[in-house]
Amino acid sequence: MKLLEALDWRYAVKQFSDEKISAAEVKALLNAARLSASSYGLQPYNIIVVASDAIREQLLPFSYGQDKIAQSSHLIVFAAHTQVGEATVDRYIDKYALISNKPHSELSDFSNHMKSALAAKTPEQRQAWAHQQAYIALGNLLTCAAVMKIDSCPMTGIDSAGYDAVLGLDEKGLTTSVICPIGRRHHDDIQAHRPKVRFDYDEIVMEI
Ligand SMILES: Cc1cc2nc3c(=O)[nH]c(=O)nc-3n(C[C@H](O)[C@H](O)[C@H](O)COP(=O)(O)O)c2cc1C
Repeated sequence: MKLLEALDWRYAVKQFSDEKISAAEVKALLNAARLSASSYGLQPYNIIVVASDAIREQLLPFSYGQDKIAQSSHLIVFAAHTQVGEATVDRYIDKYALISNKPHSELSDFSNHMKSALAAKTPEQRQAWAHQQAYIALGNLLTCAAVMKIDSCPMTGIDSAGYDAVLGLDEKGLTTSVICPIGRRHHDDIQAHRPKVRFDYDEIVMEI
């Protein structure tokens, strides 16, 4: 029941207070997001924490007037890898071999299977696939934040090319998927008192 209460408590915050979330809490939250599921486990994204006020000021012109990206305690940017392919798989297999203490030779079928699956996609499909994985991490972060009583607001109402330029993501092989300011809700945030609009169980869930 605690989980449902947390999900009921959370909402997409429109106005943050200037209270800061402690570094330890931010780290715990990001560690939870890091544990998200992803297709084949490939994790084709990075999660960028922007604490700097100066950088967030530079992002404001690309945020369509949504100044909560600067008001909030920290801004989290989920950025998908732009070069998804054999190197994505090789990087993962290196980690897999290390963690599971297996020789690469035992993982070659697994590796080839993933490489063929990615090769069967167009570059656009591979990019869309990478963004999808980043969104799973976003969903996980939203839930974990709620459980930790940290406020948040998922956001795509931004100029992602502008974000990429300010954050220097192109040269890092990344592109912005979605962002999420986190912090504490402002006591004047009228959004806090608006009802949660969700379809009923039977309107969403289909039992077949
Ligand atoms: C992918 C995504 C993008 C969103 N973009 C914005 C945004 O740019 N600005 C904003 O204020 N809210 C944004 N939202 C918040 C939604 O409007 C909000 O989650 C939805 O209305 C449900 O309300 P609740 O989260 O408060 O329960 C976004 C949500 C998601 C999941």
